Amino acid sequence: MAALCRGAARLTLPICQIRQGLYRGYSAGSSFQYILVERKGQSQNVGFIQLNRPKALNALCDGLINELNQALDSFESDPQVGAIVITGSEKAFAAGADIKEMQNRTFQDCYGGSFLAHWNRVSSARKPVIAAVNGFALGGGCELAMMCDIIYAGEKAQFGQPEILLGTIPGAGGTQRLTRAVGKSLAMEMVLTGDRISAQEAKQAGLVSKIYPADKVVEEAISCGEKIARNSKLIVSMAKESVNGAFELSLAEGNKLEKRLFYSTFATEDRKEGMTAFVEKRKANFTDQ
Ligand code: HXC
Repeated sequence: MAALCRGAARLTLPICQIRQGLYRGYSAGSSFQYILVERKGQSQNVGFIQLNRPKALNALCDGLINELNQALDSFESDPQVGAIVITGSEKAFAAGADIKEMQNRTFQDCYGGSFLAHWNRVSSARKPVIAAVNGFALGGGCELAMMCDIIYAGEKAQFGQPEILLGTIPGAGGTQRLTRAVGKSLAMEMVLTGDRISAQEAKQAGLVSKIYPADKVVEEAISCGEKIARNSKLIVSMAKESVNGAFELSLAEGNKLEKRLFYSTFATEDRKEGMTAFVEKRKANFTDQ
């Protein structure tokens, strides 16, 4: 950490501030250009990242993705943080990858330069990530939300993969995660027509788990993050790994993974504490060990 704090790079300072708990009012004086970063929740155990590029409806430019990844890295290595919330503004979670940035890219730029190689960071987070979506979640914005573990939506949220209207296709998991989330027919319709779906349709299709009034989504997402963060961080990561196995493995392989992780919980202090607390009729005091 000392090395990080000493680093001259502009974006290393907030990471140090976050770790040292000096982040109160941090968002106001953020050194990040495209995002606001804070810890939230009564115990300051929820990492909070707000996309903050309002004039472009939070279009995901390269710089924004780099900052997002950096903030995620810092929250992932912060032992106090038990869950992370990503949100945008009331008008837009994110209106997609930055079209102006992509407009003149060539195939050689994309393929040779591994365009989008660093876009997957959210999906590899070990801590749970909750998307609090208001307004537009389109293209890369919808894909970013789908990389999160839980999606809460505001009543006016709209989800879509409109890349087809731009002569391209989703490139950050849209055709894969959307299809797994909502099924083939609706995914095909959205990807092939570019039509958007409402929060209510997204909830009905299983893309989002809860809908709230726009001004309540973020606080509800933080409250969900706090609830998760009260559990053992160690066991939460194992539970997340096991659920994610359902997307990658056969049923038999997934059940094997689950069983191995379940057995592994018996090697932890927190499993012992959880069951002992139940028997002793008291609240468990997890230590993430
Ligand atoms: C760059 C964008 C943008 C985007 C909006 N803006 N979306 N800039 N990239 N994806 C900018 C506009 O150019 C404009 O700035 C400002 O944000 C406000 O947008 P308006 O269009 O004036 O707002 P509105 O009329 O309310 O319409 C909102 C909208 C529309 C429906 C969301 O902006 C829109 O259709 N945006 C594009 C959505 C999209 O196609 N997303 C997929 C992108 S491709 P200026 O300065 O010009 O006025 C993608 C590929 C993913 O995501 C591949 C893997 C990552």
